[in-house]
Amino acid sequence: MRQIVTDAEATARGRTLGDADLPLYDVIRYHLGWVDEQFIENAADPGKRIRLSICLLSTGAAGGDPEKAIPVAAAIELLHNFTLMHDDIQDRSELRRGRQTVWRRWGEAQAINAGDATFALSQIALFKSAERGIDGETMSNLATEFNGMTLQIVEGQVLDLGFAERWDVGVDDYLRMIGGKTAAIVAFAAWSGAVFAGRDPNTCRRFHDFGQLLGLGFQIRDDYLGIWGDAQSTGKQPGDDIRGRKQSIPLIMLSESLTDTGLAQLREIYRKQNLSESDVQHVTRLLSENDIPERVQALTTEYHDRAISVLGEVAEPGEARDALTMLAERLVDRSR
Ligand code: IPE
Ligand code: IPE
Ligand code: MG
Ligand code: MG
Repeated sequence: MRQIVTDAEATARGRTLGDADLPLYDVIRYHLGWVDEQFIENAADPGKRIRLSICLLSTGAAGGDPEKAIPVAAAIELLHNFTLMHDDIQDRSELRRGRQTVWRRWGEAQAINAGDATFALSQIALFKSAERGIDGETMSNLATEFNGMTLQIVEGQVLDLGFAERWDVGVDDYLRMIGGKTAAIVAFAAWSGAVFAGRDPNTCRRFHDFGQLLGLGFQIRDDYLGIWGDAQSTGKQPGDDIRGRKQSIPLIMLSESLTDTGLAQLREIYRKQNLSESDVQHVTRLLSENDIPERVQALTTEYHDRAISVLGEVAEPGEARDALTMLAERLVDRSR
């Protein structure tokens, strides 16, 4: 991963910037957990890198050589990190991976720049796939799908922000939104693995289905952790989703279970300009009283089980399939 990013950066600098003193790349390295705020090498949490692992393991589980998929796996991880930098601005999140977010440390404008550059680096990494023995048609197909998937992420992000102003968001709307913002990239990771293994379009599609289901389960668990997670483990500010008035799955389930009076009380809280700590606690109490944590976890399990079952049907038996299955099983009750 580090080599690919360094190569991509070297290509980008040689081609367009040529200024080694720009702090731009240092800010990106900070976000990736390689340097500290003073840009001194100091390892921090680089994230779980599940999308990268899913891509490489899917290549193996589809009967291919994971080495071939290294550039695309790095491209996926870079794209993910680009979306995080912009997402933290959009969500006003001050903490990620246990450290200040890029916008909080260097301002929104520079965080937009760092995100944009990371997007460009992801494209350069993607096109390095051409050096790993794939033909021009497959490269073109990969690039089209990669950018189509990026559009799906942005569409999901647009829906996510739009939902914050509404009270008529149902579970289907929610699934469509997280299908874009979170599941599309996981689906692409699994799909591209099968493509690198040279599998037929139908098999690749089934790997895509596996990733999509796993990605949906992943976001549902993320919504759980956003409220009931431990900040030490998640590295994020607890209660951000409530303060941000997110229509996350716990809130949707709650509004569907409350009586008219309960719903009116909830809306009253959300009408405030800024939610206080006691407002956040009030909403959290309402969620617990209505068994929402248990119901959210049951839905998480359902999606993970469905994903594992698709994988069992489509993957070649062997070490890679076992590792991928174990990864999916671990994600069901992850704490970070
Ligand atoms: C965070 O993803 C964004 C979501 C889609 C929930 P991860 O939880 O995979 O973030 P890192 O990369 O491990 O920090
Ligand atoms: C992040 O979703 C999705 C993308 C970055 C595209 P969230 O906003 O729910 O994830 P966290 O909680 O900030 O990681
Ligand atoms: Mg968000
Ligand atoms: Mg966010």
